Amino acid sequence: MKKITIAIDGHSSCGKSTMAKDLARELGYVYIDTGAMYRACTLYAIEANLFNGQEIDVEAFHSQMSNINITFKFNASTGRPDTYLNGVRVEDRIRTMEVSSKVSIVAAIDFVRSAMVRQQQQMGQGGGVILDGRDIGTTVFPDAELKIFVTASAEVRAKRRYDELMAKGEKCNLEEILQNVLERDHIDSTRAVSPLRKADDAIVLDNSEMTIPEQKAWLIAKVNEKIGE
Ligand code: DC
Repeated sequence: MKKITIAIDGHSSCGKSTMAKDLARELGYVYIDTGAMYRACTLYAIEANLFNGQEIDVEAFHSQMSNINITFKFNASTGRPDTYLNGVRVEDRIRTMEVSSKVSIVAAIDFVRSAMVRQQQQMGQGGGVILDGRDIGTTVFPDAELKIFVTASAEVRAKRRYDELMAKGEKCNLEEILQNVLERDHIDSTRAVSPLRKADDAIVLDNSEMTIPEQKAWLIAKVNEKIGE
């Protein structure tokens, strides 16, 4: 069967990665979480003391970019890939509020983006891949056969993120999360390099009112249409 490239872009916390991981498992495709790569770069910068509040030492970061090696390893117990930074599993540490509150700053830096885009293109060459992110359909794989642009209302997204953090036992506040979602939307869509934007040929999926099984059925139908073309 034809193995295609699937680009899933959209706003933060709208369930893109859950959707992409499940679809990859269903199709036997490789899943690449590009947000995790920007999060791992952010964790590196935090741990290397490159942040002073919300300010980052861009020059020092630039000189250390070649020290950052991000890989994914399949975790048999969760059935999903885990993120590794320089050989150390960071899957949980990259999902904290501290990383979430700084990641848009890191993701807006041009040399970070060019390094990540290059790695993503190498990881995804050959097809049979699903990448989720913000610029997959516009910059990383503009020729992807299937492009989905996912969105949901900011309130729905904040509530989902809140439930996820609470389930992990992390202390959090719904209003603070909503502010973080809105702030990330703003930074992601107004940054100079690769702003979040729907590719002209992407199909919009607004999942505010959809259940996970409904969403999955919708996606499988789109994939089958593409594979059958
Ligand atoms: O999908 P996520 O929330 O884990 O992404 C984390 C941040 O990284 C988000 O603020 C946007 C940014 N990002 C990006 O700029 N480009 C991508 N391809 C993926 C994520």
